[in-house]
Amino acid sequence: MPAPIHVPRWLSAPEPGWTRTADVIVVGSGIAGLTAALRLREQVDSVLLVTKTVLNEGSTAWAQGGIAAAMDPGDSPEEHLRDTLVAGVGICDVDAVTALVHEGPTRVRELVSLGAEFDRGPTGEILLTREGGHHRDRIAHAGGDATGKEISRALIAALDRVRTDPGIHVVEHAIVVDLLQDEEMRVCGVTLHVIGEGQVDGVGAAYARAVVLATGGLGQIYSATTNPSVATGDGMAIALRAGAVMADVEFVQFHPTVLWLGEDAGGQQPLISEAVRGEGAFLVDGDGVRFMRDIHELADLAPRDVVARAIVARMRETRTDHVFLDARHLGREFLERRFPTILASCRSHGIDPVTDLVPVAPAQHYASGGVRTDLDGRTSLEGLYACGECSCTGVHGANRLASNSLLEGLVFAHRIADDISGRFAAGELPASTPVHPSDDTVLVASKHRVDIQRTMTAGSGVVRTAASTAATAAALADLAATADGSEGGPKSWETTNLLHLGQLLTHLAALREETRGGHVRDDFTARDDVHWRGHTHVVRGADGALTTSFHPTPDQHLDQP
Ligand code: SIN
Repeated sequence: MPAPIHVPRWLSAPEPGWTRTADVIVVGSGIAGLTAALRLREQVDSVLLVTKTVLNEGSTAWAQGGIAAAMDPGDSPEEHLRDTLVAGVGICDVDAVTALVHEGPTRVRELVSLGAEFDRGPTGEILLTREGGHHRDRIAHAGGDATGKEISRALIAALDRVRTDPGIHVVEHAIVVDLLQDEEMRVCGVTLHVIGEGQVDGVGAAYARAVVLATGGLGQIYSATTNPSVATGDGMAIALRAGAVMADVEFVQFHPTVLWLGEDAGGQQPLISEAVRGEGAFLVDGDGVRFMRDIHELADLAPRDVVARAIVARMRETRTDHVFLDARHLGREFLERRFPTILASCRSHGIDPVTDLVPVAPAQHYASGGVRTDLDGRTSLEGLYACGECSCTGVHGANRLASNSLLEGLVFAHRIADDISGRFAAGELPASTPVHPSDDTVLVASKHRVDIQRTMTAGSGVVRTAASTAATAAALADLAATADGSEGGPKSWETTNLLHLGQLLTHLAALREETRGGHVRDDFTARDDVHWRGHTHVVRGADGALTTSFHPTPDQHLDQP
């Protein structure tokens, strides 16, 4: 039995040296944060948008494939709903998915009106492609394979148009350290560290009636990920420490086709978008065998978890650490036009998809769980909202459907902005006074980041067992015991966030004795709907102990592989 996990309330940090006040604080500047901030600005008096590095640095800008929405006349939200529920392996929240697929097309059209330029066909229609798990062409893309970059550009341009508006203030190079709460645990601000913005510098406190976390994922918890270096799970860890309910954190998505650069490659790895398979590329093993054909009716376009598991199985059978993607038949002209980013990235590593097989292997890509929210993005803590990858709206279940993440950020950011302004108008969410941080603090040295990544990859990665998760839990407990608070600053705050999330994720990975969604349990290889069709929730109590509960979902009567 692993030792109980103790999560202290605060990261060790200097006393705030400055303060700022706004109606709403939005943390993060991906599609979720920017959309929430822009919409809130139209509805409340003052918005403070803070981001860890610069506005376009997060995961959104790296999104290749596109944004899914039923915009083709032959498609329907109901079909998008069904594909999403099947990909989510029986544990999506149907109401959340219904909101996503019905509101999605309108939100994407609004994005177009705002200035986002999607790829279009000869008659001006938005081109739609297909990715894993979709039975229709419904993925809008931009710049071929640079969709996130274009969406980020359009949103930042919209923000630039209102930069002089006193109702919105943007602070870059600002890492949020912890949430501030009043005596009744209501969230009323954040502590944050800003590097040299001129007006403010060092650790400060920002107060607000509502805080929206839109901080993205936790990919840096593993050795290899498609996520950028800023994806250290800060928002999730901050919410965990403050006592928000966390949900489904064990469900990590491993993208099947990440460029394989050798066993020592670490950090952010180049993604080979599922859209390449959507346009006709296919997977082969080292002997040239197309192994996906025998595994799923959608073959290479099966849902992402099915493909990732099939690759892991094939790699084990053939005793290799990668398989190959064959796109050569698509031709130079098409590949260079449709996938310029991917071609440039492969070629920079000496691989030309026009003439070469592309070596690929699964790597961490997306956190399907996060801070539990309702349909308006409200968390279990009054005043705290979560949006995008750091949240768990229930849209993704055990495995996110391809290109639903940008859509989720867009749809739920609107819902959050409308909910907050509606509550302000009703006199709810009054300003309150934070309690002073206690001495229940912690800080792990940044040199341990690589130890966390190694043990998470070995024990709580795509393949898990009781023994592997126990070993990882023990290694993380040892690291937690080294915490002495001697090294301060952003790198050690990030490392401590990764440690807390690693402990939580590993705890849940050990509990879930089945194979569902992104991971393989080698000792429980089947899906177990009798015991495990449902959500895991975890909440930190006032004493720092974590309480876990299980919440079954009704049978969705879906044919799942
Ligand atoms: C991809 O382009 O394959 C990634 C898209 C996504 O993660 O939704």
